[in-house]
Amino acid sequence: MQFLIHNIDYFLGFIIYSFLGWIVESAGRTMLEKRGFVNSGFLHNPFIPIYGVGAIIIILLNQPLLPIALPLRILIFTIICTALEYLTGLAFEAIFKIKLWDYTKQKFNIHGRICLFNSFLWAILIGFFILLIRPNVDRLIIGRLAFEAKYYIALVLLAVILFDTLISTLELKSTALFLNQLLVKYNSLTVSMMGSLSKKIRNRFFHIFPNIEKIFTGRFMLGFLDLFKVRQREPELRRISQIINQPPLVQAAMDPAYVDAVQDLLAHDVVKQMTEYPHHDQTTLAHSLVVSQVSFQLAKKFKADARSTARGALLHDLFLYSWRDHQGISHVVNHPKIALANAQKHFQLNEVETDIILKHMWPLCRRFFRYREAFIVSMVDKIVATKEAIAMLNQFINQKMN
Ligand SMILES: [Fe+2]
Ligand SMILES: [Fe+2]
Repeated sequence: MQFLIHNIDYFLGFIIYSFLGWIVESAGRTMLEKRGFVNSGFLHNPFIPIYGVGAIIIILLNQPLLPIALPLRILIFTIICTALEYLTGLAFEAIFKIKLWDYTKQKFNIHGRICLFNSFLWAILIGFFILLIRPNVDRLIIGRLAFEAKYYIALVLLAVILFDTLISTLELKSTALFLNQLLVKYNSLTVSMMGSLSKKIRNRFFHIFPNIEKIFTGRFMLGFLDLFKVRQREPELRRISQIINQPPLVQAAMDPAYVDAVQDLLAHDVVKQMTEYPHHDQTTLAHSLVVSQVSFQLAKKFKADARSTARGALLHDLFLYSWRDHQGISHVVNHPKIALANAQKHFQLNEVETDIILKHMWPLCRRFFRYREAFIVSMVDKIVATKEAIAMLNQFINQKMN
């Protein structure tokens, strides 16, 4: 308590700047991301402590560094704040095994935790902070409040932040646990289960840090290739499927012939990109994997070319854009041609695979299938898409009712 009394201005500053940081970040993200209001930061309450910590470090160092010219000081503080951002990202990854933000797609990034453009934004913010924000906060708030008022405000708000940190840590831990359990059980999931799970996944952390969901979907899909572990988990999978009373849809995941047929495609970056685009209630890759696996099984039953069926089906929706941005008849009619062009650019396709991709939207394309494998995939695609559309409609209704 003595420490709080002697450093009351710093504690109050930490709270004020954590709050101002929350305003800047939430307003910026709400405007830029257009996903509704984003309550930015890890906590429920309107504070982002990393801004408070950064501000206090700058305040403590600014006085001894005053002889240094302002631009150089801003550069030093920018390096310190960037290091703080890196360490925070590293700590979250180490403790929760979750990457909350990811700059890997930005130029000049380090491990996706920091990037040059963001550091440039830090520098602008730090300039504003030194010249405008701090002098005014000192003059208008900290300098005007009586000691008792500062003491009680700091005491109450620090308690709020500490309690919030505890609750949010437990919540994030349980979110991480849930995701990891889901990863272990990924190949017992059916499309409808994915629909009901997505309700649970609609966690506040997914809204604040959309990267978690993206990374998770990617890991979920690529984990599918882990055939040996799948085999070891077979008894467990059977037990889980008994509990949920639904047979595992992806039986083919245990079929080495299926994995052999599509392994190189799934390992390719262009196919991995399909995890980035929503499709019905899934991602394009999740949808295509289901179509591919079911079609593979049917092709085997009908003694057709199961390998080409699996490969063609996996690439049938390789259009690589969000159909929500290209709604209307043009997407419905054109996406098979776009998917074929993308697939031909990266893979050597045979005639069966080409026919599958080009005609999967039959009867919207004029020409009938040349190969029965294309007929199988087109029918399976329609059934799976209908299932996913119903799940999407259910989600929409539930959202409206909640
Ligand atoms: Fe399609
Ligand atoms: Fe499709």
